[in-house]
Amino acid sequence: IERTFSILKPDATERNLTGAINAVIEEAGLRIVAQRRIRMTDAQAKTFYEVHAERPFYGELVSFMTSGPVVVQVLEGENAVAKYREVMGATNPAQAAEGTIRKRFAKSVGENSVHGSDSPENAKIEIAQFFTDSDIVG
Ligand code: GTP
Ligand code: MG
Repeated sequence: IERTFSILKPDATERNLTGAINAVIEEAGLRIVAQRRIRMTDAQAKTFYEVHAERPFYGELVSFMTSGPVVVQVLEGENAVAKYREVMGATNPAQAAEGTIRKRFAKSVGENSVHGSDSPENAKIEIAQFFTDSDIVG
């Protein structure tokens, strides 16, 4: 069984979409095995998005992710990483498939409601940035 790391971003919490997005996650067969609502610090956001440090939108991304509460989660299921990426939809909501979280809820390519790990290796690294083993109840 695989785990992935998820963030419900500030544009989602601001519109009270935590429950609606969690329903989509659970209906897809993914189990929410850890969840916490936090205000991400500047240092946490910078470290989390370090791979994008050279991209032109890095500053905007870090300030967006620290602009309001986020919900960090660990999701568990068969092929959880790929399955959640499918449920999320494309980064740009204009290109996201019907029924995906980003098609339904995202505001723009930047304010796109959710994050999901892009590989099982990165999922482990990202989960460890926000949760310890005892926080996760499978
Ligand atoms: P994540 O699951 O959030 O990592 O999304 P992703 O893997 O679909 O996209 P990627 O890793 O390429 O980019 C990370 C995040 O940076 C995206 O989810 C967006 O929030 C943001 N981002 C990506 N491209 C742009 C852009 O062109 N402009 C802005 N403002 N933000 C962007
Ligand atoms: Mg990504």
